[in-house]
Amino acid sequence: MAILDPRIDEYLRGLRPERSAVMREMEAVAERDGVPIVHWETGRFLATLVGALGAPRVLEVGTAIGYSTLHMAEALGEGGSIVTLEIDESRAAQARSFLERAGVADRVEIVLGDARETIPTLAGPWDVIFVDAAKEQYREYIALAEPQASERCALVVDNLLMGGEVAAADGAGTRWRPESLAEARALNRELTSGGSWIGSVLPVGDGVGFATRFRRAPA
Ligand SMILES: C[S@@+](CC[C@H](N)C(=O)[O-])C[C@H]1O[C@@H](n2cnc3c(N)ncnc32)[C@H](O)[C@@H]1O
Repeated sequence: MAILDPRIDEYLRGLRPERSAVMREMEAVAERDGVPIVHWETGRFLATLVGALGAPRVLEVGTAIGYSTLHMAEALGEGGSIVTLEIDESRAAQARSFLERAGVADRVEIVLGDARETIPTLAGPWDVIFVDAAKEQYREYIALAEPQASERCALVVDNLLMGGEVAAADGAGTRWRPESLAEARALNRELTSGGSWIGSVLPVGDGVGFATRFRRAPA
């Protein structure tokens, strides 16, 4: 479900350019196999961020078939890199194949396993952390990655508006599970009110949390 007024959603869709052959194939595979991937606009948001930072070290939690990874990898400058985490072996293999065919595999490391176990084994520092795996585990991933976040790390989190259902009344029938909605609502509050991170929730794609590390003024 789109979070925007249908006319605006349709207008934005009309701005989407022709995709590269690999990007198009990934979208077709995701559609055919029901693999959830970021909206095109979210992919471009990630690419813009990575491109503006130049050569960041990126941690991505939730690779699937590598679609958002490809958006970011194409925008990485010389020396930048992406470590992307996936629990599903066959999806990780599909991602590897797509990224090789797109010519960006040299800057991407795919780490297989449960991100809650793999994150603590990885060496940062992370300049960008992009979270897009199991929704109920979002805050756990962020807490585990935070010790390796660089001083000016940008945090990006997908699906924080969940098709608008985060605004649904208690007890309303929703497509997203109550546990996922509860996690998104809790994280939206944290990101906007300033705990370890401070930022906003942007109505891009399915709702994108965008934050940086909270720095209190020296006493
Ligand atoms: C929404 S998809 C990722 C989509 C991808 N970021 C994109 O837009 O192209 C979420 C992925 O996270 C993976 N996942 C779920 N729980 C995980 C965990 N605990 N550790 C690592 N990956 C996990 C799922 O297997 C799934 O492929």
